[in-house]
Amino acid sequence: APVKIEWSFEDAAKEGYEHFMLKEIFEQPRAVKETLADGRLVEFAEHLGSLGRLTVTAAGTSYHAGLVFKYLSRKPVEVIVASEFDPLYRGGEVLAISQSGETADTLKAVRHARGRGASISSLVNVVGSTLTRVADHVLYTHAGPEIGVAATKTFLSQVAALVAVNRILQGEELPQLHLEPVLKLSPRLRKTAHRLSSKRSMFYLGRGLSYAIALEGALKMKELAYIHAEAYPGGELKHGPLALIEEGVPVVAVCPPDEHREKMLGNIEEVRSRGARVIALGERGDRELEKLADEFYGMPSVEGDLVPLYYTVPLQLLSYHTAVLLGRNPDKPRNLAKSVTVE
Ligand code: M6R
Repeated sequence: APVKIEWSFEDAAKEGYEHFMLKEIFEQPRAVKETLADGRLVEFAEHLGSLGRLTVTAAGTSYHAGLVFKYLSRKPVEVIVASEFDPLYRGGEVLAISQSGETADTLKAVRHARGRGASISSLVNVVGSTLTRVADHVLYTHAGPEIGVAATKTFLSQVAALVAVNRILQGEELPQLHLEPVLKLSPRLRKTAHRLSSKRSMFYLGRGLSYAIALEGALKMKELAYIHAEAYPGGELKHGPLALIEEGVPVVAVCPPDEHREKMLGNIEEVRSRGARVIALGERGDRELEKLADEFYGMPSVEGDLVPLYYTVPLQLLSYHTAVLLGRNPDKPRNLAKSVTVE
């Protein structure tokens, strides 16, 4: 049946921005707002809520959105990287997340689950893509076309939709987001990026929901700036990676004011005492964190489930600026494609 695509030519033009990626980062307030305005959100949430066991599958950045959902959800949710789905899947209904709807690993996982009798729900950005045709239930994100290879506005839209699903299932109001203040951090993040551009390796730390944000931040840094960036749950540091912390190693600490903050402060002390240079993201006014870190980014005070939406944005900008300062093309990182249609 004919489907009207709401995307415009302007959506696919740079409109004065140096790169598509930067434009797409700045489009996030709109992308998230439009995603949250989808009239099918409630029905989709209720459908997911009616399912028994739920397994989420996705790749790359979309996998990180799945992890955010797992941390937020009150019911047990399993999240499996799509390329590892077959050996790990133990049955149950499936939610597949993909901006393109064409990722071969995700489609293969979905077909495998379907063959085992699962129903398939999907969260997708591209209307009419293969995943939407394979799935029984589809919710669209409304990020518009994303030209940059790095997923930015599609990720924030996925997370916004999943936060909304979770809130609907708890009987709560949909979130109101004001992301503009974090976008204003861009010039300062460029200065931080200057200091990072000479580094070969760096770490990202978080606990709980913030670990999912750390993973996404590190993926963006690897993908765009080609700097080796590892994300670890703060608690895992002492189980190995601490041995790699030495003078001048950058550590990005995602440290919102949640139940993990105290332990994160401990992790920051551990790495600083070994010479790490800590860039911390925390709530504006967190003087203790500010004093502990070499660089502190004060974020707006937001409800806990909104932290991934706010705290991811500076990490996207940090990777973007580092890539540009290093002369990389952030829109087309080497060796990567926008849609990965091979396994
Ligand atoms: O289209 P998808 O969301 O299924 O793509 C999955 C990954 O290939 C994708 O998120 C990839 O990791 C991005 N380039 C990350 O920025």
